[in-house]
Formats: sequence, C-alpha cells, structure tokens
Amino acid sequence: MLNFNFYNPTEIFFGEGQISQVANAIPNNAKVLVVYGGGSIHKNGIYDQVSDALSGFSWEEFAGIEPNPTYQTCMQAVAKIKAEGFNFILAVGGGSVIDGSKFIAAAAEFSGEPWDILSKGGEVESALPIGVVLTLPATGSESNSFSVVSNSETQDKLPFASAYVQPKFAVLDPHVMKTLPQRQLTNGVVDAFVHTMEQYLTYPVDAKVQDRFAEGLLMTLMEEGPKLLSDEVDYKVRANVMWSATMALNGLIGAGVPQDWSTHMIGHEITAVYGLDHAQTLAVILPRMMFAQQESKRAKLLQYAERVLGLDISDEEQAIASAIELTEQFFHCVNMKTRLSDYGVGEEAVEVITSQLERHGMTALGEQQAVTLDKSRQIIAASL
Ligand code: NZQ
Ligand code: ZN
Repeated sequence: MLNFNFYNPTEIFFGEGQISQVANAIPNNAKVLVVYGGGSIHKNGIYDQVSDALSGFSWEEFAGIEPNPTYQTCMQAVAKIKAEGFNFILAVGGGSVIDGSKFIAAAAEFSGEPWDILSKGGEVESALPIGVVLTLPATGSESNSFSVVSNSETQDKLPFASAYVQPKFAVLDPHVMKTLPQRQLTNGVVDAFVHTMEQYLTYPVDAKVQDRFAEGLLMTLMEEGPKLLSDEVDYKVRANVMWSATMALNGLIGAGVPQDWSTHMIGHEITAVYGLDHAQTLAVILPRMMFAQQESKRAKLLQYAERVLGLDISDEEQAIASAIELTEQFFHCVNMKTRLSDYGVGEEAVEVITSQLERHGMTALGEQQAVTLDKSRQIIAASL
C-alpha cells in the first residue's frame, strides 16, 4: 500500500427529511447565498424545503448555473457576493452547481484573475464556506475538494482542487432522485462506476481494504443501477445508489492506491468540444481504455473479472475480453450509449480531441503515464 493522508471533513446528513438539518448546519450569523441551476428545484419541492430550513437566516439566491458550469456565469455570482457581502454559500443541485459554487467560493477571495485557478494552477489560499443539498448522485463533488469549470469562449473544461472548497456539510436525501430524468439517473450510475474504476483498475499494491471497498461499490452499482430505471425502483434502491456515488469519490477508495483518470481527462475534452454529458463521454472511452491498457492493467483486470463479474479466469485472454465486453454491456443495461457515433460525432474528432489534449498538456495520462498522445489518438479512434 502507498503512503497516504486521508481527511474528509464533510459532515453527511443522509436520509429522508434531512434537508431540514441545513438550519442547524449553517452558522447562526451567516449571510447565505443559495446557488442553484436551471430551476428543477422549483418543480420538485426542494426549493421549498430549503427556504423553510433557511427561514431564520438572512439569505438570497443566485440561479442559472448551467450543466458543465461556466466561468462566465460563476463570475456573475462572484460579483454579487462582492457587492452584497455574503459569507456562506449553499449549493443546491448536482455536480455542476456544486462545482460552480466551489469555484465561486474560491474566486470571491482570490486576489488575482480567478481564471488562473483553472488555467495556471493559481493557488487557492482561502474560500467562502460551502454547504450542499445534493439533488443528483453522480460526481461525489458533495464531499470532495475537486471542481471542474468550463470557459464557454475558449472550449476549456479544466479541473482544480483545494481543501478550502471542500463542503462543510452535504445533505443526501434519496427522495430528491424521484424527479431525475432517466438520462441523469443513467449519468449518475455510470459516472460513479467510472470513478471507482479509475481508482481500482490500475496495478496491485496489496491494498486489500481499498480493493474490496471498490469492488463492493462496483457490484452495488451493477446490481442497483438497472433497478433505478425499472419498476423495481424504491427508496432502498435510490439510497444505495446515492451512497455509492458519494463513496466512489470522497477520497476513501483512492487513498494509498495508484489512480488512473485518463478516461476522465479525455472525456472532459469531448464535453468541451462536442457537448456530450460528462458520463456519456466516460462510457464511450472506458471500454477502449481497458482494451488499450490491458497489459499494464492485466492483474487488476483479472481481479475485476473474477471478483466483480464472477468469471472463470483460467483462460486469461478470454476472461479479459469478457470483462471488457460485460462492462460495456452494463452501460447498455442502464441505457447508456458507448460510441461517439451514437452522438453524431465523426472521424474528425480524433484529431480535434487529440489536439485539445496536447493544448492542455495531457500527454502522459494514467497511473504509469503510459497514455501518450498517440495512445489517446488510438483510443479515441477506436471509440467512434
Ligand atoms: O440545472 P438544474 O435545474 O439543477 O437541472 C439539472 C441539470 O439539468 C438536473 N437535475 C439535477 N437534480 C435534479 C435534476 N432534475 C430533476 N430533478 C433533480 N433532482 O440534471 C441536469 C444535470 O445536472 P449536473 O449537475 O450537470 O449533473 P452531474 O451531477 O452529473 O454533474 C456533472 C458535472 O460535474 C463534473 C462534470 O465534469 C460535470 O461538469 N464532475 C465533477 C467532479 C467532482 N467535482 O468531483 C468529478 C466528476 O468526474 C465530474 O468531472
Ligand atoms: Zn466523473
């Protein structure tokens, strides 16, 4: 096992009726800016629950954070904060609203040009405190320190990480999932699954606890994911998927193990140029990444085949081929497409995405830095 520091200070309020806990979790003297997206929270009662919980506070709202949050929209919220002196952000939404809120929280206190946080690794030295009411289980953003923000003018979609933007608390009420469109339920299951794979499918370091936690998450998502889209869906199914998504990217399974993230980095470029949803890009790239990297990932691919998929691995080549195929089939089972051409993206994407990767310095991705630009080019071509 590799050395690690593990610290996750986000308090989780999980379960039915927990949105009311917001009242106790926010400091009494806070002046709160509630940040949300395109308005789904007005239709499903979440806005009302949040307003009730905030009845004793001074608060206002900033709406309109878009899926794949943009720097341009976030900076409007920063201007409001600077003009009106808010000192707490409550993000009510999915990964986009939470990531946008993290950037807003850091940008509001950043002394230079905030875009530098994303484009030049500008160091975040403080940020406004953030709380979260999660409405879409997928990204894990509710209890991690990462954020991904896009620039609508330059086709950049870039991540940053800072302990200062890790949410103080997150409310996870599985009932919020009732109004999610099927496309977003699918996205959530696939994103959580691929987060787990990016931290599991590398090379063995004898990290038994992390491996078995990761395997548990993969198995749970494979078991419960299809139910989420069927008549069998109920509170128990939603609760298991919601908690899996949080656990998949809260630092626990990634502590002390090598991590990959190459599928994500290629995926972000596809979203930036072609606008596919984040999880749609992952389902397109992951099977091809598994295939292309099967030699360096061999031991873990076999472990995945045997322990997660229950395959006989005596014929190793056959087991690896089946493991890749079953992974793609799982995506199909939750109604996720797995080819760029399914979204009308053609051959030109191979060079376009490869040059985006080059422009962003993504030239040696993966746990062994073995995914060179040439490898990425081959993987994208195979994903058409
Ligand atoms: O805008 P609203 O009205 O909120 O509607 C949203 C949006 O249209 C809707 N929605 C959310 N909750 C709902 C709902 N509709 C009905 N009922 C509800 N309860 O769903 C749509 C998609 O929301 P979005 O927040 O964009 O989805 P997701 O949670 O998948 O977030 C994706 C973003 O997170 C980033 C992605 O790159 C992408 O920008 N990621 C963040 C990560 C992190 N911070 O750790 C890691 C991930 O790998 C990922 O990169
Ligand atoms: Zn993701």
